[in-house]
Amino acid sequence: MTQAPSLPVFPRSTRAQMTGFSSTAAVLQAADKLRAQGVQVIDLGVGEPDFPTPEHIKAAGKQALDENFTKYTTSAGIVPLRQAVCDYINGNFGSDYTLEQCCIVLGGKQGIFNAVMSLINPGDDVLIENPGWVSFPEIVHFAEANPVRINTEATDFHLTADMVKAAITPKSKLIIINSPSNPTGRVIAPAEYRKIIETAAEHDMWVISDECYLQFVYAPAQVNSAAALPPELRARVLVAGSLSKTYAMTGWRIGFTLGPREWVAEVLKIQSQSATQAASIAQKAAIAALTQSQDPVKQMLAEYQRRADWFIPALNEIPGIACSRPEGAFYAFPNVKELARNCGYATSKELSHALLHKYGLVTTDGAAFGAEGYLRLSFANSMEALQAAIERLRQLVNDHRR
Ligand SMILES: Cc1ncc(COP(=O)(O)O)c(C=O)c1O
Repeated sequence: MTQAPSLPVFPRSTRAQMTGFSSTAAVLQAADKLRAQGVQVIDLGVGEPDFPTPEHIKAAGKQALDENFTKYTTSAGIVPLRQAVCDYINGNFGSDYTLEQCCIVLGGKQGIFNAVMSLINPGDDVLIENPGWVSFPEIVHFAEANPVRINTEATDFHLTADMVKAAITPKSKLIIINSPSNPTGRVIAPAEYRKIIETAAEHDMWVISDECYLQFVYAPAQVNSAAALPPELRARVLVAGSLSKTYAMTGWRIGFTLGPREWVAEVLKIQSQSATQAASIAQKAAIAALTQSQDPVKQMLAEYQRRADWFIPALNEIPGIACSRPEGAFYAFPNVKELARNCGYATSKELSHALLHKYGLVTTDGAAFGAEGYLRLSFANSMEALQAAIERLRQLVNDHRR
């Protein structure tokens, strides 16, 4: 019998070993499997708008194709788009960003990734909110650095400057702030936001402001950007912006970074040696998004508000669920500790698993974001889907009554 040749073991880098796959991807795969078996799955797991990209933005993309705008562009992005980004942010927040302070990237995530890689050395500490977006700790791990988590559960997920101050270590170099927050929906009020940046500055730290959900804010919370800070504070902050959610353009992969010249130059250097540039066609579409009618954004926001107005009270009527009103983004983040207990599940992960496999309802377990006992439910979904989700949750409660 011939022996099978021994295959080489792939020698993963330390960086690759330290970085995990998206912990939410497994749920999505399981949901796809159920769908393939014909199960009517209600999916509140996805983190993207359920609206199509607005027509005038798609038209600009099509026109770019027809005009053969299909070649390499400069790595930082075409000048009219960088100008549109500067005009949009400067116009809304009174800043004075110039073209050299703006780099177009392939979505907000790539902007954050490049910004972390250009600042952070192995062994540095990076402050992040907990719960917080799943990619923050993994990007920090990829830099062979340590995420230092600031737990916000005790303040119902409101981050304060005092909490930041208490978390700072001698090795802290960066804090990543995400307001409005995925998954909590919290929005940091402008005065507190400024105090947080001042605290970071006092400790010679740098800041990434992830403003992916910038425009999706529900009154009385206010739309706010790091761009509104005074210049001496802004000089420590890199704004990671994104068109993905604002304009329902998740697949187009357009984001931007605005910040101190030296930092943006490093972000650009990494981009020029990796992705090269954002897609030429998508850049043209992005100009239309930023410079033409903002009505679609207002309409989407009004619709999210309408859904939240119905969905959050409906969630709170279910015994064992307690859900605060989101101030921004499009996620409900209910506390389901009592519900899980009442139904005999030890963790929110078990509850989420049961909701998927027994009730065909996709949710994201809060533990994926660092908060056991919570679920993230996206209301970027039709009212019918939200109503069906509530029905399935009621069914779960009924099934465990006897
Ligand atoms: C908090 C947060 N930041 C950044 C992103 C990245 O968005 P994109 O890379 O699609 O612009 C997301 C996407 O889910 C997010 O939730």
